[in-house]
Amino acid sequence: MTSSGSAEDFPAFLPPTPTGVARAAELLRAGEVVALPTETVYGLAAHALDERAVRSLFAIKGRPLIDPLIVHGLDVNFFVNLAHFTPMARLLAETCWPGPLTMIVRKTSAVPLLVTAGRDTVALRAPAHPLMRAVLEACRLPLAAPSANPFGYLSPTRAEHVRTSFGGCVPWILDGGACALGLESTIIDVSDTSAPPRILRPGPITAEALAQILDCRVEIGPRESTPATGGLAAPGMLARHYSPRTPLELLESTQKPGSPPVGRRAAWVRLQRPKPKEATPNAVEVFWLSEDGNLAEAARGLYDLLRRLDMAGYAKIWCECAPESGLGLALNDRLRRAAGRGNS
Ligand code: TXA
Ligand code: MG
Repeated sequence: MTSSGSAEDFPAFLPPTPTGVARAAELLRAGEVVALPTETVYGLAAHALDERAVRSLFAIKGRPLIDPLIVHGLDVNFFVNLAHFTPMARLLAETCWPGPLTMIVRKTSAVPLLVTAGRDTVALRAPAHPLMRAVLEACRLPLAAPSANPFGYLSPTRAEHVRTSFGGCVPWILDGGACALGLESTIIDVSDTSAPPRILRPGPITAEALAQILDCRVEIGPRESTPATGGLAAPGMLARHYSPRTPLELLESTQKPGSPPVGRRAAWVRLQRPKPKEATPNAVEVFWLSEDGNLAEAARGLYDLLRRLDMAGYAKIWCECAPESGLGLALNDRLRRAAGRGNS
């Protein structure tokens, strides 16, 4: 923190105005870390080519240096000096950018190995959020930005979530209100031209849509770990990630929760408002993410609800799974990680 303000002045919320955007850009150019809204979740941004700034990013987040960062920019041209775009990568950029798609491509020597955790590939994304784009326009810097949550915890979908998690350790937050999508971007690895493209993290751009755009088979799931990848295909693929502190257990849509220990309450998160006559076990309170089971609406509100339930002192959170296709794949992926079950 280099501002002249005293500790209790932080974090400072920068307004969603040209003045707020200009201030965020100025701070980023000076090597500071600023929390910025994107259409998926809030990111903790720093100048990607400034190693000192990137180091403070890792430190604030408590993120191990083996976990590489996504670099954000405006479009393919913005990244020309940083990465090699194959025809497949160009097609994805033309079709899905700006938007919630992160591509893994081969990097150039301009990208510090600190950003990519020693890999020869880099994750790139051109976000669609107008404020994030305005900041990129104003600072003209590639921005490394992991989700703005302490490592392993739920991603933030509101400026307030960033403040609750970090207090003054993240001094500046550009307040863009609630994120429109609420789940992290889809990550697709197109760096290996001899292998089919592979979705490393399902997200708002579905596997079905990507297969249609690319007109080929798209694999899903982490790559086999190899010594070259430091033993990890993508550390965000760790079994326990995006987790609340309260124990969370998944239920099929036909399953009912048990009862919490005597004297304690539990929460049951449904995708859709239950029918009035559906029975609920004793001391279990029911919440729903959408009136009618709309998965986009469920995704938008998931992390906010889980954060609120996490602070409410429940003994347990039961959560209903989504159907295993489309956006349901991304929702279930995050729910399994929140439950600490990874890809199992
Ligand atoms: O929606 C999003 O993608 C948000 C917003 C802020 O853009 N960002 C985000 O970043 O979710 P983060 O750091 O929380 O997750 C990025 C994931 C991590 O799991 C990381 O391991 C993986 O991307 N990743 C980054 N570079 C990679 C690479 N070269 N190869 C494989 N995985 C990579
Ligand atoms: Mg994250």
